Amino acid sequence: MTGPTRMRLEIAEQPAAVAATLEALGAPVAELVAELRARSIASVVLIARGSSDHAAVYGRYLLEGRCGLVTALAAPSLYTTYAAPVDLRHALAIGVSQSGETPEIVAALRYAAGRGALTACITNAGGSAIARAVEHPLVTRAGDERSVAATKTFTAQLAAFASLAAALGASTLARGLASLPDLMTETIAIAEAPAALAAATLVDDDAAVCVARGFSYAVALEAALKLKETAAIWAEGFSSADLRHGPTAAVTSATPALVLHAGGVFADDLERLEGELRARGARVVSIGPGRRLGTATPPCEELAPFTLVLPAQLLAERLARLRGYDPDHPRGLRKVTETH
Ligand code: F6R
Repeated sequence: MTGPTRMRLEIAEQPAAVAATLEALGAPVAELVAELRARSIASVVLIARGSSDHAAVYGRYLLEGRCGLVTALAAPSLYTTYAAPVDLRHALAIGVSQSGETPEIVAALRYAAGRGALTACITNAGGSAIARAVEHPLVTRAGDERSVAATKTFTAQLAAFASLAAALGASTLARGLASLPDLMTETIAIAEAPAALAAATLVDDDAAVCVARGFSYAVALEAALKLKETAAIWAEGFSSADLRHGPTAAVTSATPALVLHAGGVFADDLERLEGELRARGARVVSIGPGRRLGTATPPCEELAPFTLVLPAQLLAERLARLRGYDPDHPRGLRKVTETH
C-alpha cells in the first residue's frame, strides 16, 4: 500500500465534517423540533445497523437522558418481518443510515410511518432511499466516504443527534457544540503517535475488550466494531457495569482492554475498572485527556464521544496495516450491506 489509506484521510476530515453538519442542520432540526412539539411526541424509536446503530445508542442517551423523551432502539425485524402491533402515533421514528440504502432500515421506517409515527432520518446521502422515505431528512455533511469502515459519517451522525438534543433544550450541549471541530483537530494531533505505539503492542492479539459507560458507551461499541472489521480482532464493546456482570471472567493477559475515559459522573468507576482489569493480567490501553492515548478535554461528558472515538479509529487503522490488512477494503464487506 502506498500513501495514506482512505480511512486515515477520512479520519482527518472529521473536524470539517462535524463543523459542516452542525452548520447545515440548524434549520431542518428546528423544523423537526417544531413538528415534534406540535404533535406532542413523547417517545423516539431509532432504527439502524452497524456503526449507525452505535450512533443511535449515543442518540438514545442524549434524547432520553437530556431531553426526557423515552427512546428505544428498534429491532428492525420486528417491523419488517413480524409486523409488530405497535401504536406509534405519539412517537418519532428516526432511521440512521450513512448510505441511506440499507433496505431493512428503509422498510422499517415505512412500517413505522404506517403505524402513525412522525418520521425522520439521519443520512449522509441527500438523494437516498431513506431521505425520500421520511418527512424530515437530516442530511449530514461528511462528504463522500470511500473507505468501507465508517469514520467521518459516524461522527457526523453523532453531530446530528447532538444538534437535535441541543434544539430540544439540552443547554450544556448547545454551549459545547461549537468547540468540537477544534477539539477534534487537537485530538488527532495528540493521539496519532501514541495510537501507532499502542497498535504495535496489540499486533499479535486475537481478542480485545473496549469499555466505557454512559454517554460514551456508544464509543466502546464503535471501537470494537472498527477493530473487528479493519484489523480482524475479535473485539467486544461493553459498559463497565455489564463487563462486571460476567464477561470479566473471560479477561486474561490475552485480552487487551481499551478503556475510554469521558470524565463526568463515571470517572472514578472507569478508574477502578482499570485496576480490576490489570489485576486480571490484562494490558490496558487508556484513552482520554492526559491518558496514554490522549485526547483534548471535551467541554462536557455528553460530548466526550467526539474526541474519544478518534484515538480508537487511529489505533484500528494502524493495527489493520500492521496485521497485513487493508482497512479500506475489509474482507468480504462492501459499503452498502443489503440486509432485509
Ligand atoms: C462499519 C459500517 C457498517 C455500517 C452498516 C450500516 O464501519 O460502516 O457497520 O454502519 O452497514 O450501513 P448504513 O449506515 O449505510 O445503513
